[in-house]
Order: sequence, then C-alpha cells, then structure tokens
Amino acid sequence: MATAYFGRRYTLSASHRLHAASLSDQENRAAYGKCNNPHGHGHNYVVEVLVGGEVDVHTGMVVNMATLDEAVRTAVIERFDHANLNFDPLFVNHVPTTENLTKAVFDVLKVALPAGKLEYVRVEETENNFFEFRG
Ligand code: NI
Repeated sequence: MATAYFGRRYTLSASHRLHAASLSDQENRAAYGKCNNPHGHGHNYVVEVLVGGEVDVHTGMVVNMATLDEAVRTAVIERFDHANLNFDPLFVNHVPTTENLTKAVFDVLKVALPAGKLEYVRVEETENNFFEFRG
C-alpha cells in the first residue's frame, strides 16, 4: 500500500503561565524565567497537522480537507483559541509548555479524526521555536 500525506496549517492564540506545582518558586523561576511571571503571556501559535494513509480510489484523497478542518475546529480551535491554557483540564496536572500543548492537540485531534489518519502535530510557538508530537 502506498501512503500519501496531507498537511495543513492553522493558527491559535492563547495565553499561559509556566509554573510547576511540584517545584518551589525559586525552582520555577530558574526553570521558566520570565515565562513564570504570575500574569502570564500569550502566543500566536501555528499548528501544523499531518494526516496520512492510502489514497481513496474514489475521491483521490487521503482525508477530505473539510473533514480535517471540521475536526480541528471543533476539537482544537474552539477549545484552545483565545483561552488561558492553565485553566484547561488537560493542564491541571501538566505545565502548559508547548511540548505539552503539542501532545494535547495530538490527543484530542486523534479522537476527532478517522482512525489511524493522524501522523503528527507540529506547533510553532515563535518564529524560532517549534515542537512536534508523533503518537
Ligand atoms: Ni510562553
């Protein structure tokens, strides 16, 4: 079977504060620097999603783009866009670093997409930083 891949980019604005309950205030400042500021800060994340699979003989597609857009909108954008990530249940016990955000997006999107299609999620936090999670 030949696997084809389809990638698409979305944008997501959210705020967070990096603070681990298991670390002391001093350790938190050492680990996260200004990202530990109690008032938090925001990012305009770019979320890149790659799906893969056999090309459907009828439609010629791996996953319909409308299906992908709808899954990302309902599972990811409506949940995280213009949100404070610290208040999301997924981050109650996990610091909302972009590593953990990337995994969270992967986990919720995997459930929303047809089984076995999600290859990876890549999140750009700034123009210089990006993170990737593969299931
Ligand atoms: Ni940040």
